[in-house]
Amino acid sequence: MDYDKLFEAAKIKKVTMKNRLVMAPMTTISGELDGSFSDEEIKYLSQRAEDGIGTIITPACFVHKYGQAFERQVGCHDDAMLDSLSRCAEAINKHGAVSLLQIHHGGNAAKEIYTNRKPLAPSACKNRTGTSELPQAMTVEDIWMAIESFAKAASRAKQAGFTGIELHGANTYLLQQFFSPFTNKRNDQWGGDVTLPGRNRLENRSRFSREILKAVRAEVGDDYPITYRISPEEAEPFGYSTKDTIDLLKILVPYGVDIIHVSSWDYHANLRNDISQGTNPTYMIKNAFPYMPVIGVGGIETPKQAMEVLEQGIEFVALGKILMLEKDWVKKVMAGDIDLIKRKINSESEREELAIPNRMKEYSKRFFIIE
Ligand SMILES: Cc1cc2nc3c(=O)[nH]c(=O)nc-3n(C[C@H](O)[C@H](O)[C@H](O)COP(=O)(O)O)c2cc1C
Repeated sequence: MDYDKLFEAAKIKKVTMKNRLVMAPMTTISGELDGSFSDEEIKYLSQRAEDGIGTIITPACFVHKYGQAFERQVGCHDDAMLDSLSRCAEAINKHGAVSLLQIHHGGNAAKEIYTNRKPLAPSACKNRTGTSELPQAMTVEDIWMAIESFAKAASRAKQAGFTGIELHGANTYLLQQFFSPFTNKRNDQWGGDVTLPGRNRLENRSRFSREILKAVRAEVGDDYPITYRISPEEAEPFGYSTKDTIDLLKILVPYGVDIIHVSSWDYHANLRNDISQGTNPTYMIKNAFPYMPVIGVGGIETPKQAMEVLEQGIEFVALGKILMLEKDWVKKVMAGDIDLIKRKINSESEREELAIPNRMKEYSKRFFIIE
């Protein structure tokens, strides 16, 4: 099979991505205690850039100290992080890869043990599955503080030399919490009735993300690439649907989104309630935005699978877990050594070769075969 299409360059604004391959953002829980990137995390990311992946998206980086959701999560919440951010950007950029800092606020997923306070969320209700701590409903002041934190974080990303940013609007975190009927029960201009007809339905629920985009754009200017990561639908009945997501994106895209990144564990999964043809959420979103570059992700391990994504008209394909297990994915595909792509870690020395940070090793056992 011919994999040339994977290695075609693409341009977003003034930035050239040397190929269609993206490293998916994956938290390594390996930051320093103050939120700086650790040397081992930087080495891990840099090694993937060195392999030849065109775009590297960093692990989720918290924009405000109240937004930290994971142990040893990296932060971009303070100017004191600038040195750490610059070292990370430089380690990626030097290999000719595009570096995107994923900026994030956990909302109800933030943990008091890291933030020393009750989590802040749109409403005082737990997450969809009832497993989060009970958050405190954000005041309008809290909301504007969070918006400003995103803008400042984006500004730090640019100052530090990242090529662009990714807004983490997916995976149940704060941006999604404002959109979701499960977590946003507000009646003010930041919430509102989900049963309203037409655009009014989403006008208020999109406001938080819209204001973030406006504030971020004002900081970084028109030319700086912004990716928006979104989860296309919620699994439960009464959750938002992919159709709702498309309506939301129609509102958000004009505020300066350059790439839509459709978050998924399984790229090939169809809608939760419709398995007929043409109901793949990423494909539906692409069809609704033919002029917008889209990133597809989820369970893509082989170049053949990656090609299938591109052949559906999706511009970029992100690889997550497989890049932890294989640091030479690009080199092997280019050399035609597809059968040599590794899918498990056999020994401690292999883990060291893969530069997998120590803490990530334990944590990732949930997701990987590590023998
Ligand atoms: C250990 C781990 C950490 C992750 N961390 C993040 C993250 O920081 N930000 C994010 O948007 N997604 C995160 N994800 C989701 C991945 O970006 C990706 O969507 C998912 O792993 C599916 O792609 P894959 O099958 O290629 O791994 C994480 C996934 C895993 C397994």
